[in-house]
Amino acid sequence: MALVDLLLFLIPIYIANSSPVMLGGGMPLDLGAKLNDGKRLFGDGKTIRGFVGGTLAGTVAGGIVAVYYQLPFFASPQLQFFAAFVLAFGTLCGDALGSFIKRRMGVESGKPFLLDTIMFLILALIFVVPFAKGELFAYTNIVFVFVLTLIIHPLTNILANRIGLKNVPW
Ligand code: CTP
Ligand code: MG
Repeated sequence: MALVDLLLFLIPIYIANSSPVMLGGGMPLDLGAKLNDGKRLFGDGKTIRGFVGGTLAGTVAGGIVAVYYQLPFFASPQLQFFAAFVLAFGTLCGDALGSFIKRRMGVESGKPFLLDTIMFLILALIFVVPFAKGELFAYTNIVFVFVLTLIIHPLTNILANRIGLKNVPW
């Protein structure tokens, strides 16, 4: 396992997941819709601007990686570029799915929840399956990206809170 390859692979995912706190705001993704349980579909923490902005930021970041560095997980630079979009989009979908599950379980927007830390990674990885080589999903790679994310995600949230980007340290 080449560490640098996995770290560069994670860039579109991490950028897509972290940028909405700066880029988000405005109209909620669910347009205020509630389900039969009386709770919001996603809640005010998921906005259209955050979703689109995060997807674009992750795509650009992964695209820049694709220009300079060919990852072994993709058959061509073009595919790697497209995968950057798929990974960023999958990240935001996973983030929204996490919120959907939180709302169904009665967890309020902004409250911490285990899925916050990994749901985005799970969906990004599932989305990229059709576009990546099988070796990406080697056991050691998967363990590494999950363990790293479980460490990095809480740390970046604490940092975002310290520098005033987030009101809460999670
Ligand atoms: N954000 C956004 N749009 C998104 C995702 C995030 O605008 N699609 C912004 C919101 O301002 C959000 C902040 O980034 O409050 C932090 O994101 P996150 O922690 O994922 O959302 P929460 O507010 O905790 O809401 P939830 O409980 O639904 O996860
Ligand atoms: Mg949160």
